[in-house]
This record gives sequence, C-alpha cells and structure tokens, in this order.
Amino acid sequence: MQQQFDFSGKVVFIAGGTSGINLGVAHGFAQAGAAVAVMSRSQDKVDAALAALKAHGGEVFGVAADVRDYAGTEAAFKAAQAALGKFDVLISGAAGNFPAPALGMSANAFKSVIDIDLLGTYHVLRAAFPLLKKPGASIVNISAPQAFIPMEFQMHVCAAKAGVDMCTRVAAMEWGAAGVRVNSVTPGPIEGTEGMKRLAPDQATRQLVTDSVPLGHFGTPDDIAQACLWLSSPLARYVTGVVLPVDGGWSLGGVSSSGAGMKQAFASGGKSATAKP
Ligand code: HXC
Ligand code: NAP
Repeated sequence: MQQQFDFSGKVVFIAGGTSGINLGVAHGFAQAGAAVAVMSRSQDKVDAALAALKAHGGEVFGVAADVRDYAGTEAAFKAAQAALGKFDVLISGAAGNFPAPALGMSANAFKSVIDIDLLGTYHVLRAAFPLLKKPGASIVNISAPQAFIPMEFQMHVCAAKAGVDMCTRVAAMEWGAAGVRVNSVTPGPIEGTEGMKRLAPDQATRQLVTDSVPLGHFGTPDDIAQACLWLSSPLARYVTGVVLPVDGGWSLGGVSSSGAGMKQAFASGGKSATAKP
C-alpha cells in the first residue's frame, strides 16, 4: 500500500476487524503507525489477525466479543483501553449477510442481521464513546450500498445498513460539540471478501457485478482503508455526518436490480424461496 498518512501515537479500535475489508482497514492504520485493536467473535480469527498486524511493528491488541452482547462489547473496549489507551479512531464494521428473499428467511434470520449490523453498531458506538479521546476523535461506520439502494434478496441488510447511516448522521449531530466526527464509508464490491463470496459465488455472477461498476472492476480492502485514513486524518477535520461511497461508481445505478441483471445475480446466491417465519 502507498502510505500517505501518519497515525504514529494514535490508537485505533476496529470492531469486526479480523477479516476482509475491516482487516484491510486495520492493516492500513497499522502501516500508518497506529496502535491497533481488533475485536470479533472468533478467538482464532482474532489471533490470526494479530499475528498478521504485528508485521507492521506497532502495538496490537485483540479481544473476542460479539457486538450483539452489550456487556461483552463494553468489556472489550475497556480491555483495549487498558492495553493501548483511549481511542483516537473507532471503525465499526461487524456485519452479517446472506442472500435470501424476504419469504425465504425466518423471523430469526432477519433479526440476526439487524442485531449484528444495526444494534451492534449502536452498541459499539455507545460503549466506545466514553473511551474516545475528545476533542478530535473520528468514528467511521462501514456501511453498504444496500443502505440507500433497495436490492432484492437483501431486505435484512437494506434495513440494517439504512439504520447504520442514520446512526452516523444523528451521532454526528449529537457528538459534534464534544469534538467527535462520525462518518460512514460505503464499500462497493470488494475483491476476495466474504461479502462478495456470498453475493456473487460464481464467475458468471462476478462478471455481472463487474459489468455493473462504472470503473469496470472490483475494489480492494486497501481502497476502503485509504478512505478511512483520510476521514480520520486532519485533512478531513471539517467533515462529519457524510456517507461516502467508495465503490467505483457502483451506486450510481448499475447495481439496481431492475437494471443489469443483479436480480438474477443475487438470486443465484440465495438458499430457498420460502422459509418458516
Ligand atoms: C436463509 C439463513 C441463511 C440463508 C442463515 N440463515 N443463513 N436463512 N438463508 N442463507 C438463518 C438461520 O437459519 C437462522 O435462522 C438465522 O439465520 C441465524 O443463523 P445462525 O447461523 O444461527 O446465526 P449466527 O451464528 O449468529 O450467524 C449470523 C449470520 C452468519 C449472519 C447468519 O452468516 C454470520 O455469522 N455472518 C458473518 C460473516 C458475514 O456474513 N460476512 C459478510 C458480510 S457482507 P433460524 O430460524 O433457522 O434460527 C455484508 C454486506 C455486503 O454485510 C454488501 C456487498 C455489496
Ligand atoms: P467479513 O470478512 O465477514 O467481515 C465481517 C467481520 O465482522 C469479521 O471480522 C467477523 O468476524 C466480524 N463479525 C461478524 N459478526 C460479528 C459479531 N456478531 N460480533 C463481532 N464481530 C462480528 O466480511 P466483509 O465482506 O469483509 O465485510 C466487512 C464490512 O464491509 C461489513 O460491514 C460489510 O457490511 C461491509 N461491506 C462489504 C462489501 C463487500 O464487497 N464485501 C460491500 C459493502 C459493504 P467473526 O466471524 O470472528 O465474528
């Protein structure tokens, strides 16, 4: 990665930072000199992420917790603060997704995604706020195009991520006076991630997605890291409450299910047409 930012002496906490895009963001901050803490459910994934992040030479800390559990999330933040100090940057990116029609998921399946993505985001923001360095802290919520583009087979994620972006905007308003900026980054289709494996599981679907991106290719975790670094840097000191697509133009229209065959694409990743409520 070409590194243009200096986060030496800064502490960054990344909820859901042990794989995919969020781990890429963790690498970006670690490479920029930050001390980095990651948290997710799996202790094995936490350990593997820490082993990789240590290569940058800075301090790292990891803790296993589920963002659906407020007490566990709060304890994770306190442990990270005890190890590294208060947080200059908070990235909230824990999420779950699977393609399924509204009638093809149970009430519990819908709830699972709402609980991880939306309730989890609130838990992360709520538990972290007292431990942020104020003034000056930056929060970035990792959102998704589903927040503002309705997509078939994605009712749960559309509802959850729309809520995440509203959390961003309201927190930006409420916490601005404390000197805390809050923004969302909206990744487009990102190479090699669990999210795209689930939504575009075969080559034909990947091609449909690629063709629907104006820039004509998938993004990388590093593309998302660069946006998070910029938003959390002094260069963005007057930016708060924005939802920033980093998606090669995907959200401009090509992703629409009524357009370029995305309905067919996401349906191919789906499980069943109906499920018990
Ligand atoms: C229908 C499904 C399903 C599927 C699970 N369920 N997969 N229903 N179709 N494909 C149902 C289960 O049957 C169950 O309902 C309920 O969902 C909860 O499933 P569990 O496995 O018990 O839950 P849990 O262990 O908490 O797992 C949560 C999860 C899982 C979301 C279901 O997939 C997960 O842990 N995901 C994390 C990783 C991930 O999804 N990464 C991708 C993020 S990408 P019942 O009724 O049987 O109890 C993203 C956006 C990408 O967020 C955007 C790209 C543009
Ligand atoms: P991923 O690798 O599955 O990342 C999800 C991360 O969240 C993992 O570290 C996972 O680790 C953690 N996590 C999941 N549920 C959790 C919970 N309940 N509590 C704590 N941690 C939890 O998926 P990804 O595709 O890179 O997605 C990362 C983020 O980008 C998500 O917010 C997603 O919505 C967003 N996004 C992705 C794409 C894409 O192209 N992939 C596009 C748009 C938006 P554990 O399993 O150990 O918990």
